[in-house]
Amino acid sequence: KQRIGVLTSGGDAPGMNAALRAVVLAAEHYGMEVMAFRHGYEGLLNNEHVPLKSADVLHVLQYSGTIIKSARCPRFKEVESAQLAANNLDSLGISALVVIGGDGSFRGAHHLSQYWKGQIIGVPGTIDNDLYGTDATIGYSTAVAIAMDALDKIRDTADAMDRVFIVEVMGRHAGFIGLKSAMAAGAERMILPELQKDKPLTIAALVKHIKRVEEVRGAGSYVMVLSEHQWPGGAVALSEQLEAEYNMPCRPCLLGHIQRGGPPTPSDRVLASELGVHAVELILQGKTEVMAGIKAGEMVEVPLVDTWTKKNPLDANLLRIQHEIFNPVKKSTRS
Ligand code: F6P
Repeated sequence: KQRIGVLTSGGDAPGMNAALRAVVLAAEHYGMEVMAFRHGYEGLLNNEHVPLKSADVLHVLQYSGTIIKSARCPRFKEVESAQLAANNLDSLGISALVVIGGDGSFRGAHHLSQYWKGQIIGVPGTIDNDLYGTDATIGYSTAVAIAMDALDKIRDTADAMDRVFIVEVMGRHAGFIGLKSAMAAGAERMILPELQKDKPLTIAALVKHIKRVEEVRGAGSYVMVLSEHQWPGGAVALSEQLEAEYNMPCRPCLLGHIQRGGPPTPSDRVLASELGVHAVELILQGKTEVMAGIKAGEMVEVPLVDTWTKKNPLDANLLRIQHEIFNPVKKSTRS
């Protein structure tokens, strides 16, 4: 029987369990055995493995987190680590490894491929949606839904007291969660890494926008979505600055790791199920060093290196709608 390995690595993402379940069910369907490594690459180095059968994974897709645990593993960058991992995989008779994770995990997989001759297939599992070549990563939809839900709740209190709120969302170096949750919740403003690169926002410009929105719409709430790492000191520092320098009452709210928990959305469960099966089918086709992805409804395979060296842009139409029609950052020429 062909034996394959699987692990979940890096920041956990809602839907990882659904992906794992799909890998195990597909592998059994095609007559393969599955060995899971616990705690990501750490488990691969420490030989911490468990066989997984369909009975172990049948009812896990409704939970976030990962039943085989995850970890960040900085030492995996070392040559000795990749060699050790390769030896461990060979001694277990594993011929292919499925890595469910984000860009750091895929870099690790690429590193391993230099020292191991087995097949390596990536499955995109990260809330950040920052992997090239797939329309969505597993976990992104749930993170957006959680951020939207939080923004809706913030809106209730913000509106009641005509307040400015700054809600900080995750995304690492990408603004996908920020943009989509801001649109979904009707936020007045977004600070996203991709926008900051060309023209970093100043506090004066922000205050101008808050006042313009108030001028046009009358007193009310103003909710801003701030991507993490985009303001020194984050939402707390920015709201303190607004109060201190402009006498503008403002409240911060940090969503943090809440964005990675709770039941995964239907989209994430279904995406994870499709990609998990796709990963096993790519193994059967003899593929290696590719990520299983989905583009416009089609299953695709993306060279692993492309997933972090190339970038998916933010949705230009969403940006246009937000910045030109819903909450213009410049004065309209028509009014
Ligand atoms: O990559 C997923 C992510 O949640 C990022 O959005 C965030 O920057 C990071 O992980 C947080 O990492 P940790 O869970 O190690 O604090």
